[in-house]
Amino acid sequence: MAEANEAEQDTPDVVNTDSQTSIKSRIDGLGPWFHNMTLAGIRTAPNHFLGDYPEVKFERFRNDIPHDLHGKTVLDIGCNGGFYSLEMKKRGAERVVGIDTDERYLSQARLAAEIEELDVEFLRMPVWDIAALRERFDLVIFMGVLYHLRHPLLALDLIHEHVAKDMLLFQSLQRGSREVAELQTDYEFMAPAPFEESGYPKLHFIEQRYSNDATNWWIPNRACAEAMLRSAGFRIEAQPEEEVYICRYEEITTPPDGPHCVYPATGKKL
Ligand SMILES: C[S@@+](CC[C@H](N)C(=O)[O-])C[C@H]1O[C@@H](n2cnc3c(N)ncnc32)[C@H](O)[C@@H]1O
Repeated sequence: MAEANEAEQDTPDVVNTDSQTSIKSRIDGLGPWFHNMTLAGIRTAPNHFLGDYPEVKFERFRNDIPHDLHGKTVLDIGCNGGFYSLEMKKRGAERVVGIDTDERYLSQARLAAEIEELDVEFLRMPVWDIAALRERFDLVIFMGVLYHLRHPLLALDLIHEHVAKDMLLFQSLQRGSREVAELQTDYEFMAPAPFEESGYPKLHFIEQRYSNDATNWWIPNRACAEAMLRSAGFRIEAQPEEEVYICRYEEITTPPDGPHCVYPATGKKL
């Protein structure tokens, strides 16, 4: 996460009123921010290590998401400071729910929504508990969370099983080869293993830290990110940016070894 600890006012034509001073102190009080947003003329993370993030990323795929979301519902999983939630609300979404595990990020998101006067619901909830929402959403946003999870495929399975209805906006950090090998439906046990091929799906396990962050657990290569999406029941429709995918929900049949979604356990006796 960025050490963006200094919120600053940098819009010259904004008058520095008492209320702006109080907003700045509320923004500072909730820092550091990972999402750089301009709230009442004040930037929340002006020194972000990725630049004007997430705006610079969003710029590359903003036109791949419907501009008019009137009548649509949106779930933003791992919403952080609420950048994507607020952007979707600005597009007219009827209902936007943002969830995250981090209370400070949720407070940032609530403050941003208050200042922008946008009606978005922010809940403290891990992706593991999304079945409790008891609702499917037209657009599910799952950006920048997969590699922070110890059980990444389960998260995709849960999204498919419980909350996805139509579109999934997905992003994951990727490392390793950008090649994508043509996969076969089966591989011979005694034949030379396909696993050395650079384009074979690979998930890299981080036992300690990656980029000084102990919450990074599994980083896929490109082939693996795509294979995981397909395997969980999401058809890839577009890849507008190296790490970003627009997917559609597809029905899946239960495989011979049982349902994908194994959590929460039903508790029933066998
Ligand atoms: C790298 S940030 C991505 C934020 C935002 N989605 C984006 O793309 O800019 C990862 C976010 O996921 C949240 N997160 C981590 N583990 C989570 C979990 N198990 N369930 C829900 N959110 C989680 C973190 O608190 C953080 O806000």
